[in-house]
Amino acid sequence: MRLTKRVTAIAAASMMAVSLAGCSGGSNETTAAATTAATEATTTAAATEAATTAAATEAAKEAATTAAAATGSVDVSDKKVGISIYKFDDNFMTLYRTELVRYLTEDLGFKAENVVVQDGKGDQAEQTNQIQNFITQKYDVLILNLVQASSASEVTDMCKDAGIPVVYINREPDASEEERWASEGIAATYVGCDARQSGTFQGEEILETETKGDINGDGKVSYIMIQGDPENVDAQYRTEFSVKALTDAGVEVEELLLQRGDWDQAKAQQIAQDALNQHGDKIEVIFCNNDAMALGALQAIEAAGRTVNEDIYLVGVDALTEAVQNVIDGKQTGTVFNDHFAQAQTAGDIAVKLLSGEAVDPVNMVDYTKVTQENAQAILDQLK
Ligand code: BGC
Repeated sequence: MRLTKRVTAIAAASMMAVSLAGCSGGSNETTAAATTAATEATTTAAATEAATTAAATEAAKEAATTAAAATGSVDVSDKKVGISIYKFDDNFMTLYRTELVRYLTEDLGFKAENVVVQDGKGDQAEQTNQIQNFITQKYDVLILNLVQASSASEVTDMCKDAGIPVVYINREPDASEEERWASEGIAATYVGCDARQSGTFQGEEILETETKGDINGDGKVSYIMIQGDPENVDAQYRTEFSVKALTDAGVEVEELLLQRGDWDQAKAQQIAQDALNQHGDKIEVIFCNNDAMALGALQAIEAAGRTVNEDIYLVGVDALTEAVQNVIDGKQTGTVFNDHFAQAQTAGDIAVKLLSGEAVDPVNMVDYTKVTQENAQAILDQLK
């Protein structure tokens, strides 16, 4: 059993509890504790009040519930978790969902047959149907990576009306929607990362290079930006904050191209190829909102006979194994670890809290980590 690989500042407390529980038997242990409390309650009730068996049983049940609530835990062995991923065909979300299922079943004690993962296929209408089916089939908690984060209010209302708590992951709903959960006491929450941080790290990686990104010494950094799906706040923030890190440091920039690559390697390869044909040596930096697209850009860079870290810089986000290896090999300037372990584990922990009726914060953020040649090997070791 693999326990928490990294502990981030935000997730530390809750994950620590789970790691400890995991070492000593996890949810079984909690159930055992609740049973002991229930037994004690039965004895006390019988002895002091000579209560009827029925009353004692009732007290035992109550004690069990109290004990479970006090430890913030619940017996999950018959609880059903419905998960929907915006699309299966996404490198990062594939790592994420693999860890999520592993953590729920191996560490938290959900039965494998009670953890069902659906492919949203990039189609919100289809995904909304899947969610409706989960609700009809009385799933106990939902973990949702929405196709369109803007659908969160509709989906939240569906879940709220059915009394089913929901954990949104990866694609952050609007702040106004998150505030509504808090103000109306709705059992909904978001687990993710603050994408501004990842954008800033990308910009810093360029500033940390020998030429600060200005390879040709003309006094400005000329770049192309290959964006993820622009509906996604991760794409918006990474685009904005990577460049902002440069301008905040007083560096002049020139945007040669901004184009959406929808998080997709093949699309990014095509965009980079066309841009390299059009702008040639003028391009000093290729910013990619994720590593899948950085891998595509690298194919185009190599095909154009350019050399990363010598005559062009390339940065991504996620820390896909292949991209981290490229950082080590000097074929990608840097990336940013989008910690799918910590995010998946936090989502699982919060799902359990919601199942036990605990109140949770509306927003739960996990830290990113900058990945450069200095720490890339250590990050790669964590990923394996
Ligand atoms: C990741 C991307 C992924 C996207 C999916 C982002 O946080 O960096 O690789 O495609 O989430 O929503």
